[in-house]
Amino acid sequence: MQERGNWSSKFGFIMAAVGSAVGLGNVWRFPYYTGTHGGAAFVFVYLIAVIVLGIPLLMTEIAIGRASNRNPVGAFKTLSPDTRWYLVGILGVLTGIFILSYYSVIAGWVFGYIFITTSNKFAMADEQMISQVFQSVSASPFIPVVLLFVIIALTVYIISKGVQNGIERYTKILMPVLFFLLIILAIRSLTLPNAIKGVEFYMKPDFSKIDAKVIVAALGQAFFSLSLGMGAILTYGSYLSKKDNVFSCSVWIALADTMVALIAGFVIFPALFSVEGLSPAEGPALIFKVLPVVISKMPGGILFGTLLFILLTIAAITSTISLLEVGTSYLVDEYGFERKKATYLLGGVSFILGIFSALSCGAVGFLSKLPVVNMDFLSLMDIIFGNVSLILGSLFIAVFVGYKWGIEKIILEIESDGNKFRFRGIYGLLIRYIVPLLILLVFVNFIYETFIR
Ligand code: PHE
Repeated sequence: MQERGNWSSKFGFIMAAVGSAVGLGNVWRFPYYTGTHGGAAFVFVYLIAVIVLGIPLLMTEIAIGRASNRNPVGAFKTLSPDTRWYLVGILGVLTGIFILSYYSVIAGWVFGYIFITTSNKFAMADEQMISQVFQSVSASPFIPVVLLFVIIALTVYIISKGVQNGIERYTKILMPVLFFLLIILAIRSLTLPNAIKGVEFYMKPDFSKIDAKVIVAALGQAFFSLSLGMGAILTYGSYLSKKDNVFSCSVWIALADTMVALIAGFVIFPALFSVEGLSPAEGPALIFKVLPVVISKMPGGILFGTLLFILLTIAAITSTISLLEVGTSYLVDEYGFERKKATYLLGGVSFILGIFSALSCGAVGFLSKLPVVNMDFLSLMDIIFGNVSLILGSLFIAVFVGYKWGIEKIILEIESDGNKFRFRGIYGLLIRYIVPLLILLVFVNFIYETFIR
């Protein structure tokens, strides 16, 4: 087995995990889901999900990783030998590859927008022109594929060199810069005409809008945004030192991730309502149609806009790294693969899968509107792997700890830094009963509403 590294410090671990968590999930997917699932009501359920399910599950994945010191498949094999629990790890590896495939398509668009912004395309842009630009990138038969390739190649390069730990050095500077940049953009957005309508849509919940679909979307979004349910945080946790406090790490990760998402919403919604002809339910295109509006309406827009898309690309890549690292550590640990070979193989598979998503936003008619499900291939992948699979993965992880490995054992692991875990009672209650029950209830209701009624 290869030498397993460790984070240089607790701060380094938090930065890497925040790097995994903060990405397109916060800036692209959160506003898009909020827009298509009823606005503030969705935000409300999302925040509850982060606190009630997100934080305990972050702790759980970190502790499983650290206790076993393994990749997600190896972790279940170590903690529960001769059982089938390792299949949860396999599900995680597969989910990571599939998410990587379509996530990198969006990351590719973001990367492409760096050049569109610098070429001053958005200087005096009107709504129609902005749509045209988006169309010309996303519906082209080859631009998205090239951009997809660039993103996956960069990810593969970084992981194959094994330098991802070194990335913590950059993340700890760049993430705060992204954060402040988003605040500046939010201020501009909030001072546009009609901004108040956007704030209302985003912050004033209409509770009658909450149904099974909204809850499933909010749960899925919480897990997606926190990188939960597929072993990414578990893998990072396996490099965490026993001396570090699992609870405080988890709270920091959740806090940082949620702040970025909330601020992104304050950039998007006020600006959205300030222009005619755009709807919150724009879908995956939402930020690509709204961000240019904000950019075009601010002094120094080209500079801020370019910087924004550069930082977003970097934030996306610190997430794609964690998606690919799960499968890579699996092949390296369990099958003795050379690190480089493992990343090439998995990167190649993701690229091929990703081509279907890349061509599903207008380039190929069939992929852009699949029969039966009536949606594009990318959105379908996102629902299956970015929502359902992560929710199920989280359910299995909670049940594993609650009923197989045991709450006492995980508490011992959590307390191995020498501090008593004050919320052990609540934690046990959540992991054993609340989390599994909530997920099951929501799921059954969702299936019933979608397929049976
Ligand atoms: N959390 C990342 C984001 O919000 C995406 C991701 C999901 C990364 C699952 C790893 C695992 O962009």
